[in-house]
Amino acid sequence: MKCLLVFYSRTGTTKKIAESISTEMNCEYEEIIDTKKRKGRFIGFVKSGFAATREKLTVIKEMQKDPKLYEAVILGTPIWNKRMTPAIRTYITENKERFKSVAFFCTMGGKGGPETFESMAKLCEKTPVSTLAITKKEIKSELHRDEIKNFSRQFISSV
Ligand SMILES: Cc1cc2nc3c(=O)[nH]c(=O)nc-3n(C[C@H](O)[C@H](O)[C@H](O)COP(=O)(O)O)c2cc1C
Repeated sequence: MKCLLVFYSRTGTTKKIAESISTEMNCEYEEIIDTKKRKGRFIGFVKSGFAATREKLTVIKEMQKDPKLYEAVILGTPIWNKRMTPAIRTYITENKERFKSVAFFCTMGGKGGPETFESMAKLCEKTPVSTLAITKKEIKSELHRDEIKNFSRQFISSV
């Protein structure tokens, strides 16, 4: 099955998980680049969190892969203020008509997974075939490896 994984990551955690999932599922992946500056304590944390709360869109770099050419798209984002990031919100808004089937994953401190998946499903206008919320603690203790395997199994059996 041909699937595409698309993700945004500000500090690399979601990227690391995206790479593990794409290896496990043998799928292509592409990173979303937010053109807005998001580094630093004030701009990176406070302003970015505020933008997520306000459900703001941003400007993302042009993507190379067309989701329409894939049977399913896996969308990954960090959680910001219990919400999806502006970058993934923008990607979904710009591409949702091109999705056949979707799955979601997120990385987080520990709060906001269900709410975020619910709003991503609403925005995509699709129910995800599988979801995966990973905490930093789970990554540290290597628990995420089994979770990725379960997510992949559920994804493959549902698409
Ligand atoms: C602005 C901001 C808001 C955040 N809000 C939440 C939150 O509501 N719940 C949570 O569990 N983690 C929250 N986090 C933690 C991130 O989701 C977590 O560190 C994530 O793994 C970072 O992913 P990245 O390294 O791919 O950017 C927040 C982080 C930032 C920068």
